Amino acid sequence: MTPEETVREGFVARFGTEPRALVRAPGRVNLIGEHTDYNGGFVLPMAIDRSTWIALRPRDDLRVIVHTLDLEASGEFVLEHLERGEGWLEYLKGVAWALQEAGLEVGGWEGVVSSNVPIAAGLSSSAALELATARAFHAASDFAWNPVEMALVGQRAENRWVGVSTGIMDQLVSATGRAGHAVLIDCRSLELDAVSLPTGTAIVVLDTGTRRGLVDSAYNERREQCKAAAHHLGADALRDVDPERLATDFKGLDSTTLLRARHVVTENARTLAAAEAMRRDDAPALGQLMNESHESLKSDFEVSSDALDAMVACAQTLPGCLGARMTGAGFGGAAIALVKDEKVEEFTRSVERCYRASTRNEPEIYLCRASEGASKASPS
Ligand code: GLA
Repeated sequence: MTPEETVREGFVARFGTEPRALVRAPGRVNLIGEHTDYNGGFVLPMAIDRSTWIALRPRDDLRVIVHTLDLEASGEFVLEHLERGEGWLEYLKGVAWALQEAGLEVGGWEGVVSSNVPIAAGLSSSAALELATARAFHAASDFAWNPVEMALVGQRAENRWVGVSTGIMDQLVSATGRAGHAVLIDCRSLELDAVSLPTGTAIVVLDTGTRRGLVDSAYNERREQCKAAAHHLGADALRDVDPERLATDFKGLDSTTLLRARHVVTENARTLAAAEAMRRDDAPALGQLMNESHESLKSDFEVSSDALDAMVACAQTLPGCLGARMTGAGFGGAAIALVKDEKVEEFTRSVERCYRASTRNEPEIYLCRASEGASKASPS
């Protein structure tokens, strides 16, 4: 059963009638441009064909009643009296709070949620839940759907309600993804430019089967280090520092902060070069930049892990693989590989075998396709 059918049947079973709307929002993988979004820089993610789905019907009052099939749990809240709690419902409450903060009038609804975006794998299951929730409120209310504004609402919910600092990448691509394309995002101006994926290649997700620990504190520490480096260089953000300048103006910066800054500054340049390579349909150049990005995340930014390094090392040596790197915040979760279409099957088998032999972890490997951002599908 597709997740769409699952939530629809789940809704009928729970509420005894057909849902009035079906909405979805996808997870993402980032092709390149890691830890650059909160430095005002560039990212190049794509929305994937794994989404969070909600089947719902509007209510006449201000109550939201939700059941999640994946956790077999239910919860509810009232829009005029939002109170902080714990767990999955906070993402929905956070979106309700951020929509109201943005001055939008929202109505109540009841619904059923299910997702096939793996949790904590670095594929943005939280952004998918936030944007699906925003879509559900849109379906139950009168406000206009503005994808960039809704991404900012999702980010606000995550930063200020759930209390996790993140940049804008995940929510923005979940809101604005395009089938067959990655989206080059300027995280300062929020300008978007869709670029097609290279002809004859596929993106393979390589989930290491390890889940990230201590990621929040390490993420916040990296953000602070980037801020300190920009301040030292008299720049608003590392986005404004070019690689040559970093090579000459670094005096007085401690060696760790310098390495962090070097990653961000070179990663911004790599991301722009990667978008150029895609516009030329130059898959080998894109793959090479992905390999360089992994090396920089591993050695300069130090957010990889033994499992991610083992997976990437396996992938990079296999026939048909043009490049591979970790994706997302790091410390566990998934890597991605750019693989020639005709080698995908062989690659999938071999990378699994190689990774298992070198780590004894159980990986999950799957092809993913670039998909549309958050959308509404009317129940048929
Ligand atoms: C997480 C955050 C994003 C981004 C990445 C690293 O996914 O949610 O905003 O900072 O890490 O590139």
